[in-house]
Amino acid sequence: MRMTVIGTGYVGTVHAACMADIGHEVLGVDIDAERVAALAAGRAPLHEQGLDALLASGVSAGRLRFTTSLAEAAAFANLHFICVGTPQRPDGAGADLRYVDSVVEGIGPRLRPGALVVGKSTVPVGTAARLAGRLADLAPGTEVAWNPEFLREGSAVHDTMHPERLVIGVSSDRADALLRAVYWPMRRAGIPVFSTDPATAELVKVASNAFLATKISFVNAMAEVCDSAGADVTVLARAMGADSRIGPQFLDPGLGFGGSCFPKDIRAFAARAEELGAGEAVAFLHEVDRINTRQRRRTVDRARELLGGTFAGRRVGVLGAAFKPGSDDVRDSPALAVAAAAQAEGAAVRVHDPQALDNARAACPDLTYTLDVPKACEGADLVLHLTQWPEYRAIDPAALAGVVRTPLILDARNSLDPRAWGAAGWAFRALGRPLSTVGGAS
Ligand code: UDX
Ligand code: UDX
Repeated sequence: MRMTVIGTGYVGTVHAACMADIGHEVLGVDIDAERVAALAAGRAPLHEQGLDALLASGVSAGRLRFTTSLAEAAAFANLHFICVGTPQRPDGAGADLRYVDSVVEGIGPRLRPGALVVGKSTVPVGTAARLAGRLADLAPGTEVAWNPEFLREGSAVHDTMHPERLVIGVSSDRADALLRAVYWPMRRAGIPVFSTDPATAELVKVASNAFLATKISFVNAMAEVCDSAGADVTVLARAMGADSRIGPQFLDPGLGFGGSCFPKDIRAFAARAEELGAGEAVAFLHEVDRINTRQRRRTVDRARELLGGTFAGRRVGVLGAAFKPGSDDVRDSPALAVAAAAQAEGAAVRVHDPQALDNARAACPDLTYTLDVPKACEGADLVLHLTQWPEYRAIDPAALAGVVRTPLILDARNSLDPRAWGAAGWAFRALGRPLSTVGGAS
């Protein structure tokens, strides 16, 4: 099938490459000419497992092309996926829909009769209906559907090729059949498809993200209670997660969630519900957000306390800048926020990350960066473990103890082994865990 993918960011690039891989003819569209040129040469604008190979094979097979022209896109296909970003509004908590709107304004007058415009971006419920109204004027006889994605950064290609479900929000059987045909290999693999109206489809996405964010904030709230009660949140989370009704996923306590989705999505959901008169129903999302941002503050406070009450003149080695392991994305990264706060209070901060340094440098140019863990920790009065990359679990604590000034570490992700670090002479500290269980030197 022929299709365009408009907006080649995280979602769009992965979607375009995966659609070409399953045999479709795909034209990727972006306003960023540099990005389009790189993609056309088979270079991905982001670090994602398996993406480079898919891009290269799609481009060389001629099934995947890129352009900056919406006119070319409109002429190329009758099926258009919108994947542009929907960030938080600069002046409020709601979603900024200007990019989605500008795509519709740009392509609308050029659409061929019968065209189907399918949103993948995460949007406030009611957006598809509003865009359908606009297209009724700009391009009569066209249709709007919503088909949210659930991909996670770091496993985006896998999540697109092997999703746990497909959600198709349509207003006609024709659109439903068309979208089911797009995803033929997934359907053949028995992946469940939920066909519904566009509003429900829009809501499935925001409700899913809100639920996951709530689960994380729940366990982080428990970490705070554990700190006050002298209990261990890591054991609590594992024991809770062993109940199959609760499940262990998204129950890792620590520095909280960041990235380009959860923070802005829960704010946009609450804002939209308020507009609809249903604000009270999701008022708890404000609390979820507050708990989440509090974890960054708690980490900074704890680090300052460990340094004897001030960051001024202290050296801090930071492990991790990405918003989560497996990604080079630093958008709303809790790790980078903590590193920047320590530096702002007078510490000399040196940050290590295996993948995200270029993005981190662009976002926070004042921090010092290195690709070498011992260099990041050289002469440090405190080491902060802020993103749980697997390579940090493979660090030899005894060797690292030899480069720091004081062997003192705060594990803000609760993923290092306190006993191993303690045995190597480190004072090991964590959020939501008493000294008696983390053990080690004090
Ligand atoms: C996506 C979704 O669209 C968003 O709703 C969801 O919540 C997270 O994932 P993402 O892929 O992260 O967003 O967006 P981003 O990486 O910011 O890329 C957006 C792309 O669209 C950029 O390449 C930008 O140049 C392009 N763009 C933007 C257009 O092509 N046209 C525009 O008018 C605006
Ligand atoms: C999320 C959703 O999972 C995905 O379905 C949606 O399409 C986009 O948003 P993503 O932002 O890539 O994906 O990352 P995810 O793995 O969900 O992690 C989000 C944040 O939560 C990260 O900062 C991560 O470190 C944090 N997190 C996750 C926790 O703090 N604890 C956990 O137990 C799980």
